[in-house]
Amino acid sequence: MEYEDDRFIASTKSEIDEVIENSLRPSTLGEYVGQQKFKDSLKVYIKAAKARGEALDHVLLFGPPGLGKTTLSHIIANELGAQIKVTSGPAIEHTADLAAILTNLGKNDVLFIDEIHRLSRPVEEVLYPAMEDFALDFVVGKGPSAKSIRLKIQPFTLIGATTRAGMLTGPLRDRFGVLGRLELYEPEDLSKILLRSAKILNIAINDDAALLIAKSSRGTPRIANRLLKRVRDYAEVFGENNVNVDITQKALKMMEIDELGLDGVDRRLLDAIVNKFGGGPVGLDTLSAATGEESTTIEEAYEPFLIQQGMIARTSKGRVAMPKAFEHLGAHMDENQANQLHKLFSDLDL
Ligand SMILES: Nc1ncnc2c1ncn2[C@@H]1O[C@H](COP(=O)(O)OP(=O)(O)OP(=O)(O)O)[C@@H](O)[C@H]1O
Ligand SMILES: [Mg+2]
Repeated sequence: MEYEDDRFIASTKSEIDEVIENSLRPSTLGEYVGQQKFKDSLKVYIKAAKARGEALDHVLLFGPPGLGKTTLSHIIANELGAQIKVTSGPAIEHTADLAAILTNLGKNDVLFIDEIHRLSRPVEEVLYPAMEDFALDFVVGKGPSAKSIRLKIQPFTLIGATTRAGMLTGPLRDRFGVLGRLELYEPEDLSKILLRSAKILNIAINDDAALLIAKSSRGTPRIANRLLKRVRDYAEVFGENNVNVDITQKALKMMEIDELGLDGVDRRLLDAIVNKFGGGPVGLDTLSAATGEESTTIEEAYEPFLIQQGMIARTSKGRVAMPKAFEHLGAHMDENQANQLHKLFSDLDL
């Protein structure tokens, strides 16, 4: 999923970025770092489906951008030894488009639909019988003579990916047998990803520098890979052949990424909640208006990391800043604010 801003972290991909991103994609489960629990269960399901000669159950992958949903969908097809056909929610405009895709699938192939929450309702309805019974239902004729005709298609595996699982309709969600929520990565895992990427891109980097970049990547492999390339640029310009901690620190500083890995937008969000709205609670739309960031960008790309870091929390009344956010900004949380926060959380019965 791409955003329309020009920051390097969530920036629109240039063609070169796209090529590099593809070259960095692991192609087997063994090479795919992290997400251990989900990977373990996937291995079992894939093995079982292959042993039975059946299509794998439909898989829904969800989680913030850049965590490896697209990558994993290709890996699943590869591990199944299946062909993969790639499309996306907004690309399937008409029911006939989807019917054409479905009837052209081979036995046990994988159909990957990215941004699956953006399918139109009529298209989605074609998908239901296809997912459930490997069939397409057509209505022929009009009025009393109208007849429903059922056309069988090959068994297949649908892999849907979305950053917004909450926007999926109930009937669609219910038809997925395997649900995979991708989690933000720990620095140790990102570090492994970075060392692998460095090897592919021919970048000399030491372990400490890789860990430092990992800690500054907001739990996200895509950001880690991008930072690696920027740090490499910095090192080259300053005549260093190796990426070390010193060069990395300087490059991160230039990019205004702080020691917790927060970038300028993160800090602007925190600053708005803490200083403009007295620590919150503040609604997403208000926050969006105050910072000039799209609500969806805030919600999907920024909040997950800030929440994971214990900087902010989502409550039914809106977003609140936690003591750690005040501390990070060097702001003082007064007694009133502390009490209010306490009350909010005791109301939630946490
Ligand atoms: N577990 C992983 N191991 C190694 N590399 C990874 C892993 N996860 C993601 N990457 C790398 O991160 C980059 C982004 O991954 P990918 O495009 O699959 O994310 P995504 O979840 O599909 O993002 P979006 O929501 O924006 O579509 C790719 O270059 C990929 O190689
Ligand atoms: Mg993707």
